[in-house]
Amino acid sequence: MEMTIRPRRLRYGETLRKMVRETRMDPSTLIYPIFIKEGTGITEEIPTMPGQYRYSTDTMGAKLEELLDAGVSNVMFFGIPDHKDALGSGAYAQDGIIQRALRRAKEEYPQIYRITDVCMCEYTSHGHCGVLCNDEVDNDRTLELLAKTALSHAQAGADMVAPSDMMDGRVAAIRKELDANGYQNTPIMSYAVKYASAFYGPFRDAAGSAPAFGDRKSYQMDYHNSREGIREALLDVQEGADIIMVKPALSYLDMVSRIREAVHVPVAAYSVSGEYAMIKAGASLGYIDEEKIICETAASAYRAGCDIYLTYYAAEIARFMKEGRIG
Ligand code: PBG
Repeated sequence: MEMTIRPRRLRYGETLRKMVRETRMDPSTLIYPIFIKEGTGITEEIPTMPGQYRYSTDTMGAKLEELLDAGVSNVMFFGIPDHKDALGSGAYAQDGIIQRALRRAKEEYPQIYRITDVCMCEYTSHGHCGVLCNDEVDNDRTLELLAKTALSHAQAGADMVAPSDMMDGRVAAIRKELDANGYQNTPIMSYAVKYASAFYGPFRDAAGSAPAFGDRKSYQMDYHNSREGIREALLDVQEGADIIMVKPALSYLDMVSRIREAVHVPVAAYSVSGEYAMIKAGASLGYIDEEKIICETAASAYRAGCDIYLTYYAAEIARFMKEGRIG
C-alpha cells in the first residue's frame, strides 16, 4: 500500500520511542507528602492508605532516608496534633508538631527540601479549614491565623509554604507576613485550584481532619467548574504565589492543561490520597498492575503540563524514572 506518512515508523523499538518521547520527567520534580504525629516510636500504617504511615518525629528519619536513597528530596509535611481547639492553635504553636518536625528534619536531614501544608483543618476541633463564626468559616479572621501559621513554619525551618485552605486573599496575607519578618525568599506554592473532592477521604482518615459538620463546599471549588479555577490561579499569581497547584490530579488533568496555558509560573499537580487508595485497592485485588498504573498516571499528569508532581508513590516513581521505565 502506498502511504507516505506512517506514524508507526517512530514506534519501532525502545531506543527510537525514547528519542521521540514528548514528556520528560525527573525525580527532582517529585514531592512526597508525609504525616507526622505527636508521640514517640510511632510507625503506624494508615488503614485506608496501605503502605503509607504516620510517623513521630523520632521515626520519620527512616522514611526520609528511604526517600533520599530513592532520589526524592522534596517533602511536604502534614502535622497530626494531639490537641485540637476552635482556633486551631496547634497550627501556629512554636512547639507544635510540625514546627518540631521541621527543626528536627533540618538538623538531621538538611538535604531534605522542607515544604509545609498551611491549613487549620488538622488542628481545629470542628475540622474546618478556618475559624468559625455562626457555623460558617470566617474568611478574614482566618487569614491572620494562616499568616501566623506560615510564619511559624518558616521560623522552624520550612523552605517553602503551601496554603491549602482556599480562603480568599491568603496568599497576599501570607506573603505580607513572611516579608515583614525577613522571609522574602520563602516561596509560596498555592493550592489555588483545589476542588471539594471525595478523593481526600483517605487523607482525612489519616489526619483525622474530616469536618465535624457540613462540608468544605463554601471554600473548596465545585467540580463542575473550570473557568473559576483559572480565576483562582490568576488571582493567586497576582497575590504573589510562586507556584500554582491543581488538586486532585487524575480527574482534573484538563485543569492542569488549562492552568499551564494560563499562568507563567510552575504548575504542580497533587495526586491525592483517594487516587493512591484506588490504585492500591485495585492492585491488591489483582485487577490492575500497580507498577504500570503508577507509571501511566504519573506520566499523564506531566503530559497534561505539570512541572511538579506530589504523590504518595514518589519513591516508586523515582525508581521507575531511574530504571528508564518512564521519563
Ligand atoms: C488540608 C489538606 C487536605 C489535603 C491536603 N491538604 C485535605 C482536605 O482539604 O480536606 C488532601 C490530600 C490528600 O487527599 O492526599 N486542607
